[in-house]
Amino acid sequence: MKITYLGHSSILIELADQQRLLFDPYISGNPNTDIAPEDIKADWILLTHGHGDHIGDAPLIAQCNQATVIGIAEIAGFFSSKFGVKAHGMNLGGKSDFPFGTVKMVPALHSSSFEYEGVNVYLGEPAGFIIQAEGKTIYHAGDTAEFSDMDLLGEDFSIDLAFLPIGDNYTMGPDDALRAAKRVRAKKVVPIHYNTFPVIRQDPEAFVKRLPKDTGLVLAIGESIEL
Ligand code: NI
Ligand code: MN
Repeated sequence: MKITYLGHSSILIELADQQRLLFDPYISGNPNTDIAPEDIKADWILLTHGHGDHIGDAPLIAQCNQATVIGIAEIAGFFSSKFGVKAHGMNLGGKSDFPFGTVKMVPALHSSSFEYEGVNVYLGEPAGFIIQAEGKTIYHAGDTAEFSDMDLLGEDFSIDLAFLPIGDNYTMGPDDALRAAKRVRAKKVVPIHYNTFPVIRQDPEAFVKRLPKDTGLVLAIGESIEL
């Protein structure tokens, strides 16, 4: 599978069978990239929570591609009623089979709401995702603090690649993310959710140097890896 970092917490996974999974597409609002959201092709859009820097361009991309949004029940309901897109609602602890593999929705310690037409809408609990496809296991932590139940993710899954926020202020910072990486026992760790705004300025290279050898990987915006 091909994995591309689109900045902030946004990841695109392209599978050999042509299925494309897009996480948290905050593209047009991201000052660090000029990627055009209308150029992004996706079949599935996975949203970790309702904040604007995660929902971002999801309504546009879902509509342009007839993609299905996967999120917690409140987000799925909001997307189908307000934006008229296909949506699959899940909730914490639940796992579901999709044509591309399985998705487990796992906890995240954060908050979740979205400003829509001047009103702050409650969008359920924040979440992370564990995706299993093509024999690989990928963890997208969403926005979260470190929490001790991350140990269970490391026990239950053999995680090949984990996307962990390191920005601090809104999520765990590098020190806690380092411990989170140990808890989830991922073979590879890619830092996300940093340097988009001044308040989450971090040095991702310094972070990955503190991880066990050959574990950490900094992806530039637009950079792809094969997994
Ligand atoms: Ni958030
Ligand atoms: Mn965020």
